[in-house]
Amino acid sequence: MKTILTGIRANSVLTLGNYLGALLPMVRLANKYSGDDEYQVNIFVPDLHSIISEVDGDLQENIIRTLKYWLAAGLKLDKNVHVYRQSYVPAHSELCWILNCVATMGETSRMTQYKEKSEGRESCNVGIFDYPILMAADILLYSAQYVPIGEDQFQHIELARNIAMRFNHKYGEVFTVPVSTAEQVKFMGVDEGIRIRDLLNPEKKMSKSTAAAGSKIMLDDSPELAAKKIMSATTDSYGKVKFDMWAQPGISNLLQIEALLTDTPLQDVISTWAGETRYGELKKKVASSVSQTLEEFQKRLSEISDEQVLMILGMGENYANEIADAKLKEVQKAVRLR
Ligand code: TYM
Repeated sequence: MKTILTGIRANSVLTLGNYLGALLPMVRLANKYSGDDEYQVNIFVPDLHSIISEVDGDLQENIIRTLKYWLAAGLKLDKNVHVYRQSYVPAHSELCWILNCVATMGETSRMTQYKEKSEGRESCNVGIFDYPILMAADILLYSAQYVPIGEDQFQHIELARNIAMRFNHKYGEVFTVPVSTAEQVKFMGVDEGIRIRDLLNPEKKMSKSTAAAGSKIMLDDSPELAAKKIMSATTDSYGKVKFDMWAQPGISNLLQIEALLTDTPLQDVISTWAGETRYGELKKKVASSVSQTLEEFQKRLSEISDEQVLMILGMGENYANEIADAKLKEVQKAVRLR
């Protein structure tokens, strides 16, 4: 079986960017292949990745809430869907160390996320630097070929591919190399990597760490508040709807959000709105899609109990430990630790 795998950190309530960039594409893929035995789906909370930076609130509560998000986003559970927490599968940290000895300082220092997170800080923890190597371990332990993620993580996928290829070259064919980011995009069924923009500064990506509340939609925003944020989103003075991320990033962002929320090909949404001169009309439509989605999502979320989540984790972690331990043993043998 081919493996589709992704993880979302549990540092705080998630944004609409996380929802549209990773949660929803993964849920759509999982449900599409649910019931056939060609693909299995691994969903996990990278809790070790969470502690590289500040956690908003209590990490344990955030972990459970993040897991509930998957169910609230419509994930159908079946025997081929496995849900687990990274720190409950010790092989992730163990493989990370071995991969640390294959990855180079040069390639890891080039990661944009590391550069952004460490920039201007007097001291930056080593976890921030090592983040993509642990991420490579998360993927390679399960021989995952498909990793649905937002565009900001593409560099990390390419790094994981390079590490896997280098390891295989040196020690023998141990790892399945994930497909390239161009292939990932195709597999996700989108036209290009997903990057939901900051609503007030659409040149930047929407991020939970941006201070201005109006710049991001949080998954616990009331549907009315979220609609207001869309209505106040920064646009431009061209006066004509056109998809152009460079010249009209605000408008393009709204078109992208609309396409993903309504599960419509981006090109169709672009054609529907092409040439419209009243930005307010587009905003009203997107505001309605966002508020409707949040209303349904939040209703489902309130119906999921902690017990439900803990039960799924019990099964998922047994499975994950079995697969991960077997792959780790193969790696240890290859490098002659065993
Ligand atoms: P995290 O929690 O920072 O982000 C989770 C996912 O949300 C996507 N994302 C966005 N997508 C589109 N537009 C945005 N504005 C936006 N903001 C965030 C991210 O691309 C990501 O897919 N490193 C991963 C977590 C991880 C992981 C893994 C993922 C750890 N190990 C192994 C896949 C496979 C991350 O970025 O988490």
